[in-house]
Amino acid sequence: MIEMRSDTFTLPTARMLSEMTRAPLGDDVYGEDPTVNELEELAAKSVGKPAACLMPSGTMANLAAMLVHVPRGGKVLVGNESDIYLYEAGGASVCGGIVYEPVPTQPDGTLAIDDLAAALPPDPDDPQFALPGLVCVENTHNRMGGRVLSQGYLDQLRSFATDHGVPVHMDGARIFNAAVASGVPAAEIAAHADSLQFCLSKGLSAPIGSILAGETAFVDRARRVRKMLGGGMRQAGVFAAAGVVALTSMVDRLAEDHALAAQLAAGLADVDGIDVDANSVTTNIVLFRVSADGLDEKSFVDAAGKRGLAVGEFGHGRIRAVTHRGLASADITRAVAIVADVVRAAS
Ligand SMILES: Cc1ncc(COP(=O)(O)O)c(C=O)c1O
Repeated sequence: MIEMRSDTFTLPTARMLSEMTRAPLGDDVYGEDPTVNELEELAAKSVGKPAACLMPSGTMANLAAMLVHVPRGGKVLVGNESDIYLYEAGGASVCGGIVYEPVPTQPDGTLAIDDLAAALPPDPDDPQFALPGLVCVENTHNRMGGRVLSQGYLDQLRSFATDHGVPVHMDGARIFNAAVASGVPAAEIAAHADSLQFCLSKGLSAPIGSILAGETAFVDRARRVRKMLGGGMRQAGVFAAAGVVALTSMVDRLAEDHALAAQLAAGLADVDGIDVDANSVTTNIVLFRVSADGLDEKSFVDAAGKRGLAVGEFGHGRIRAVTHRGLASADITRAVAIVADVVRAAS
């Protein structure tokens, strides 16, 4: 099977598995796992923040950020196409009494500053209104095809946030894809946000783990929230060791995933009955539509699966294919051939 449903299917490298067996361990709830401590220090440095905390998942990292930034009854401005809003089970409302205010997501993954301004209460002293406690942005933006938020946009967002006293959290699950694709260091991207989460378990290929980074006082509070959510882990150095390998040796190679995505998009653009905007593909996510008669996205995904290509339905009639370390150029060539065959068989 050519697995393109997600970069979360990446398996740990041989070096990760080896480091996992040799890592010095301790009880991380006591702060005494040396490998977790090493990873947290390295992670904080890699995104230019004073402190970082290892979380079991990106979902918990985002949730902890919202719970720390926003008081009960406050609201969080989120993109209507964001992972936080769509795929994280409403955790901020369930656990924190926080209201999600969805803001339209633009095709480039941004939230328009005017839309954010419109979500602010007309009179913050009027007790009718829930007060905004946080803006969340996603970079790269998954449902907008892996788009990278531009530094120009992030500058505007930072000014808006400062003017209105609302902090910014970046769901940077794929922040290193953004850094590699744009050539802007992750720390410069993250400088626009008060807090940032990124995943070790996607393109970076670690089996488990995400990092929540920010100011020291923020991370200290997030650690307490992590414990409250059941995410305090004991000998977590077992998988933190893979995270260290991810950060020290897997970042630059994300460019290979981006090259495969570009190859895929270019190949799909030549298939009659497939619509893809190859120019918008800059990282490792390719979104496309089937316009051929006799196929919809569901029947396409089923037929491709039967031929050995796993891709996912992605809403609004779109199909998502994600490139990662488990694929080679020959797999992409084969994937394009399978897509062409599915379309041909249906017409
Ligand atoms: C943009 C984005 N944010 C957050 C997450 C959540 O990460 P996790 O699956 O580790 O909870 C994902 C997972 O796919 C994601 O794509």
